[in-house]
Amino acid sequence: MKKRKHIVETIAMMAKYNPFFEKAGFYYMWDTGSGRPVLMYPLTDEAKKRIESFLAKDPVAQKHGGKLYMSRYGRVNKLQGNIVIEGLTKIYTSVLDVKQMPTKLREVLLAFGVEKRVIEKYVLRDVNIPIKPGEVVAVVGASGAGKTTLLRMIVGAAKRELQADARYRPSNREVVVPQNTRIAYLLPGECEPTFGSETILEHIYAKVGDEAIAVEILNMVGLSDAVFYRARFHELSTGQRERAKLASLLAEKPNLLVIDEFTAHLDSLTA
Ligand SMILES: Nc1ncnc2c1ncn2[C@@H]1O[C@H](COP(=O)(O)OP(=O)(O)OP(=O)(O)O)[C@@H](O)[C@H]1O
Ligand SMILES: [Mg+2]
Repeated sequence: MKKRKHIVETIAMMAKYNPFFEKAGFYYMWDTGSGRPVLMYPLTDEAKKRIESFLAKDPVAQKHGGKLYMSRYGRVNKLQGNIVIEGLTKIYTSVLDVKQMPTKLREVLLAFGVEKRVIEKYVLRDVNIPIKPGEVVAVVGASGAGKTTLLRMIVGAAKRELQADARYRPSNREVVVPQNTRIAYLLPGECEPTFGSETILEHIYAKVGDEAIAVEILNMVGLSDAVFYRARFHELSTGQRERAKLASLLAEKPNLLVIDEFTAHLDSLTA
């Protein structure tokens, strides 16, 4: 009996952080004197009627309506307008100077008349893509088609300081993002959230400053298990690491999320 009571209380505490129990049909009734939530599951129609009548009549219960779990992540400030990509062009310019090459290879290139050469490569030419607030846009294309380059242009528009680096600067026209843009981005191997030896839960908590929101974010990305909460980044599988990175981005409460190679490491179902 004692053991069963313990199990019920543990479930009740977990219910604060995960809507699973309510989805399964539990009702939140009240808190015990020591502040533990009490959940009930009706086994008969009669029990269900009584629970519902209590929830309708009790002044405190009227406020929570039988729901314990409340999303605390909240809504982000929606983008005020479109992201405008019009006539966007990107040319990568690189200089090949054979002087820096080993002599034998230099001789080969010199034999072909190449000494010092500026190579210009069109990657994006007159690209037009309007992106509306609330939209999810996926860019697909062959390797080398310019997907990462396009994302760099968007990231550069939202983080102007990055434009000091030519990679993030268009060659013609600009990407225009709304004034209230709050971007979080992930370009693998280029810009990624950094994890140390802290647990994943601590990492997210450090960013949001609220334990319930931290758990909520981990649930959102499918790391909804205490085993993951207390895991360290290096203890996760490659796909789980991707999800931890996504959680880290969400913890910044962005209204614009730019992710390259989004599902590359995930099996198709998880993706
Ligand atoms: N910093 C750079 N300097 C010069 N050329 C570059 C640079 N970055 C990319 N490129 C070239 O621009 C083209 C587009 O590259 P990009 O990385 O955007 O392709 P991608 O569509 O993301 O490809 P993948 O699917 O392989 O990631 C490629 O041909 C690449 O060689
Ligand atoms: Mg790429």
